[in-house]
Amino acid sequence: MTALLVADAISKRFGGYLALADVGVQIRAGDIHALIGPNGAGKTTLFNIISGVAVPTAGRIAFQGQDYTGRRADQVLAMGVARNFQHVRLFPGLSIVENVMIGCHARMGSLLQELLSYVRLEPRAERDARDRALEVINFVGLQGRIAMLPGELTLVDQRRLEIARALASGPQLLLLDEPAAGMNPSEVNQLDTLIRQIRDSGITVLLVEHHTRLVMAVADRVTVLSAGRVIADGPPSIIQRDEAVITAYLGDSQ
Ligand SMILES: Nc1ncnc2c1ncn2[C@@H]1O[C@H](COP(=O)(O)OP(=O)(O)OP(=O)(O)O)[C@@H](O)[C@H]1O
Ligand SMILES: [Mg+2]
Repeated sequence: MTALLVADAISKRFGGYLALADVGVQIRAGDIHALIGPNGAGKTTLFNIISGVAVPTAGRIAFQGQDYTGRRADQVLAMGVARNFQHVRLFPGLSIVENVMIGCHARMGSLLQELLSYVRLEPRAERDARDRALEVINFVGLQGRIAMLPGELTLVDQRRLEIARALASGPQLLLLDEPAAGMNPSEVNQLDTLIRQIRDSGITVLLVEHHTRLVMAVADRVTVLSAGRVIADGPPSIIQRDEAVITAYLGDSQ
């Protein structure tokens, strides 16, 4: 069976610095696939390449068997690959529902076009987008916060809102970059449940996360990056016992 996403021999150079070196990753449809590794390993760089925010220096990337190397972020989003950002990016002047509605229109074009089209939406289309936004707001557990502005939300709720916006675009693959950062144990448990619900709704998830316990609990498969290279790939039970992974990353944090 072809993987949903295949990154093949990806390299990324920033000036003289090689941030990714010959990285290969295959993400199976229906999996929660985790990408872990030390700070600076290249995880966000790989996310940027998969989501079209960055172009690889070398290598190819394919979604559902189709090469899309070099496509822009809005084209990649329209194809069915959505993401959050490691550092939350929301529209502070728009309401929570409007922030999510922008995601509903993601398939129409670039973010700016989305904003413009949102302003000029037909009443019917606007109603549909609002209904869809409320549905995903409910799904991520933010229904009690819709009267607030994004800036009034806690960081954890801002992360939920970013996930809602990504989900509103109707993705087949959702990329989550450190969604548990800054969360307390009970919030991490809620996130664990949410990620499983997302997967169970038919969306494949690629998760970058330093929260090892969360990763090992939810992931079907784990790829480990260190200094821009894949040092291990497999199910969590194998990864947890991998000597190279323990030395490079896990240490005695487990
Ligand atoms: N735009 C850029 N220009 C120059 N160097 C960059 C750029 N983006 C990333 N890097 C470098 O590439 C390396 C990989 O960075 P990246 O952000 O992908 O790491 P990461 O695995 O996501 O780390 P973290 O766990 O801290 O988020 C780092 O050394 C970083 O400084
Ligand atoms: Mg990162």
